[in-house]
Amino acid sequence: MTTSWNVSLLLVCFVAGSACRQQPRKSFSQPTESALALDATVLGVSTVIEDLNVPWEICWGPDGRIWFTEQSGSISAVTPETGERKVMLTIPEVYRQRSLGMLGMAVHPTEPYVFVDYTHLKKDSTIVSKLVRYTRTADTLKDPLLLLEFPGNTGHNGSRVTIAPDGKVMLATGDAARYPNAPDTASLNGKILRMNTDGSVPADNPYPGKLMWSRGHRNIQGLAYTSNGNFFASEHGDATDDELNLIRPKGYYAWPHIEGYADRPKEKTYADTFAFIPPVFSWTPTIAPAGIEHYMSGEIHEWRNTILMGTLKNASLRVIRLNERQDSVLGETVYLTGIFGRLRDLCVSPYGDVYLATSNRDWNPGQGFPKEHDDRIIRLSPIQSAGNLKMLPKSVNRNTASLAKGAMLYASYCEACHKPDGRGIKKTFPALDRSKVVTGDAAALVQLVLKGSKKNTGEQMPGFAFMPDEDLAAVTSYIRGAWRNQADSIPAADIRKIKEQEGL
Ligand code: HEC
Repeated sequence: MTTSWNVSLLLVCFVAGSACRQQPRKSFSQPTESALALDATVLGVSTVIEDLNVPWEICWGPDGRIWFTEQSGSISAVTPETGERKVMLTIPEVYRQRSLGMLGMAVHPTEPYVFVDYTHLKKDSTIVSKLVRYTRTADTLKDPLLLLEFPGNTGHNGSRVTIAPDGKVMLATGDAARYPNAPDTASLNGKILRMNTDGSVPADNPYPGKLMWSRGHRNIQGLAYTSNGNFFASEHGDATDDELNLIRPKGYYAWPHIEGYADRPKEKTYADTFAFIPPVFSWTPTIAPAGIEHYMSGEIHEWRNTILMGTLKNASLRVIRLNERQDSVLGETVYLTGIFGRLRDLCVSPYGDVYLATSNRDWNPGQGFPKEHDDRIIRLSPIQSAGNLKMLPKSVNRNTASLAKGAMLYASYCEACHKPDGRGIKKTFPALDRSKVVTGDAAALVQLVLKGSKKNTGEQMPGFAFMPDEDLAAVTSYIRGAWRNQADSIPAADIRKIKEQEGL
């Protein structure tokens, strides 16, 4: 095993703009176990701490430690350089069941407060969520102050808590598996709430006297501010359409009426009457997005101005490129699929290192998990070279703009027969998931989609020659990369050529 080099320097820049000075970074005592090669940067992978039980939230504290919750009810702080852990508090009234328990937490950067959201089972068997503020001392948390108690359920309890750039507390609640809660302005569920650090309603909230900041959410699992103050949330969809949303004050996100984009007839009709904000990106098939962070450090320059997102079902790290204004998605790169199992949360240190928390001891572990020393907090940190470290598999790039369009076209034109999961209907509509026709010769696939099938018995495949080249390229590229398919995309120019050859 090799130890990391630790020669990187931290640039400390003053906002005033004058001076930038370099500080040596601290060295890590944990060995580097493997390496992940980006375009130019090589990341060393090491375990900060192991044998945890679902670290649900990890965040970088103002004391230079990583603060984390575990789902059964503890709050700890670990020194990232050594892995030394201090349990700050356990809360016996936390009720852990399936997705319930100790969930989101935020450590205030300038005030001595820690905010936690957890589920609690009352004596009369009702489930509630509580947001509690603690005061931080060097080695414990004291003076619990209940800021908010609101309805919970056996699922969809959110949550994430984060501190806004203006110091306010932002809390994402789930719809508590009661769909009408989400749009309802009178319910605290299915919302993002904004409050002062004492739980009171800020005078400048968008709905006077209310905590509500945005509504129409199903079950948010990640919250993060970008460097320019834009506010993003990751959210679980139902059978389709996981979402990444740009959150605006008073924003309406339309769950349960619209999932993902307004791309189905009923959704389009709804969107004609009710103004809603569509996601900046949506994933079908679903991947179960979890914690997010904006990455703006130059330390891993390939990841600069991206949203880093862990996923549970897909067990991957998504690196989602943003435009300069940080309000739309340019594409995503998928790393580590299945390597460490479910990734529940992540955080970024001021040095630009990325920390990931696994979630393999939760209610729904993937095949082959949990591993003996799960769960873990893992560090990704630049190293000078991989030496003879074990290399982790290469990333997969996805052009999100055309993928999003392809997914939308698939939903409008294909999924009625081939189904959202691409598995079709036995003996009637063939599966496109793992179909050799889909992943094989691109020209043959395009010809079939253009002309349909000429079979004169049973169900027919209609032709789609009427669609513009770009749309045909988007939808065929989509099915070649969707579900378990892993074939290259098809450029619009190739579609044009085939159309010309066929006289279409
Ligand atoms: C009205 C139902 C229907 C719609 C809509 C439809 N298909 Fe099909 N599709 C079929 C049927 C039926 C077959 C089988 C044809 C055959 O065996 O001759 C088929 C076959 C296919 C195949 C070959 C799969 C294999 O493994 O043999 C592909 C690829 C395909 N469709 C893609 C698409 C795409 C892309 C769209 C949307 C742009 C679409 N289909 C829309 C009914 C449909």
